[in-house]
Amino acid sequence: MARCVRAGIPSGEINFATFVPKNGWQVHVGSFEISDIFVAYRRQFPVIMGPPMSSKPPRRVIPITVEPPSSLSASQRAAVLAACTRLKSLPGALLPIFHAVQEALGHVPKDAVPLIAQALNLSRAEVHGVLSFYHYFRKEPPGRHVVHVCRAEACQAVGAVELEAHAKKTLGIEWHGSTPDGAITLEPVYCLGNCSLGPSLMVDDTLQGRVSPKRFDQLMAQLKEPAVGGT
Ligand code: FES
Repeated sequence: MARCVRAGIPSGEINFATFVPKNGWQVHVGSFEISDIFVAYRRQFPVIMGPPMSSKPPRRVIPITVEPPSSLSASQRAAVLAACTRLKSLPGALLPIFHAVQEALGHVPKDAVPLIAQALNLSRAEVHGVLSFYHYFRKEPPGRHVVHVCRAEACQAVGAVELEAHAKKTLGIEWHGSTPDGAITLEPVYCLGNCSLGPSLMVDDTLQGRVSPKRFDQLMAQLKEPAVGGT
């Protein structure tokens, strides 16, 4: 059996220049192109190839979400930006800004969140997380009047629990809800600083003490009366 003892590879071809049979005679066989050898090798040892590799990377589909336009009016947007500009340098500025926006607009609109996040260099998720944690901050506009009923201990000891149940029943709403006519929003509060005169509540900015269910009904009837001027 012959064996190869020398192989030169000049410029793409292999010269099987010399074979040495068992009898010691040298036999020149000839030359082959490298491609011929490769084809022959492939025939003898077929290889299962994967799909051909492309020089271009596969296309990535990047989802693009088109945000709906902000629901803020020009004046609401100005109020939010003014609160941010005025308070953003405070340590822990987020809550003061929420208070300022709610004071100006009656609630903190959801579309205020991106503006506040940008002003404080926070993510929207961070701002939304804090906003949704505190029930004090309303997400929807309140009724024309906001009634805060005290739920703290001193008032509870003198009838605030009964007053709370009566308020919910007669108005037909739960905490943070508004009556269907938009007249009254009911909110809980924990001490109004009027503990010796409980049960206490606050109608808009007016503090009321010793509020019985009957007195509550009288106050609510006044709030539902149309104001002079048509509001
Ligand atoms: S506990 Fe109600 S006012 Fe203080």
